Amino acid sequence: MVQQVLIREFIFTNDYDRTINLWRGIERGMNVGRSDTPEETLKKLERDPDLFLVAEIDREIIGTIIGAFDGRRGMIYHLAVHKDFRGQGIGATLLAEVEQRLKAKGCLKCLMHVLDDNAEAIEFYKNQGWRHATEDIVFVKEFFT
Ligand SMILES: CC(C)(COP(=O)(O)OP(=O)(O)OC[C@H]1O[C@@H](n2cnc3c(N)ncnc32)[C@H](O)[C@@H]1OP(=O)(O)O)[C@@H](O)C(=O)NCCC(=O)NCCS
Repeated sequence: MVQQVLIREFIFTNDYDRTINLWRGIERGMNVGRSDTPEETLKKLERDPDLFLVAEIDREIIGTIIGAFDGRRGMIYHLAVHKDFRGQGIGATLLAEVEQRLKAKGCLKCLMHVLDDNAEAIEFYKNQGWRHATEDIVFVKEFFT
């Protein structure tokens, strides 16, 4: 039987613990860090709460994506699908939904970071029409360490 997948917006009180558990169980490609504390998650939800989505099957959270729009560029974070549910189009559905919502906000261009050894995610994104921006070098500065 094909299980029904519900894509919906993240609700902090309902979903925070279950989402962190999902991320901690992702074997690679997912860094759960200081931006994922309850405080930082609530801070993120002050902006674009409609871009933080979860995929649910039988009330279990089995996928996530966090989008962001700063008025100029979009960003994608924490796209992940539980390994038991991969290869069923759930990752592609989450990504397409956030892309659609970003476009509706007027976003012209969207970026994301992928670890260079995450060959599976790189293949996945190429498959979804993304391209590796070889013209860019990513610089970073930590404001709090
Ligand atoms: C990347 C990830 C989200 C993909 O989720 P998924 O639900 O398995 O992907 P989908 O089933 O929607 O796949 C969509 C398409 O990408 C392809 N694809 C998915 N994983 C792939 C892989 N490992 N290699 C090649 N192609 C792949 C699928 O074949 C499918 O192609 P189709 O539309 O032609 O059938 C999932 O593998 C994951 O959670 N990985 C671990 C976390 C991670 O690395 N996240 C990315 C952080 S940048």
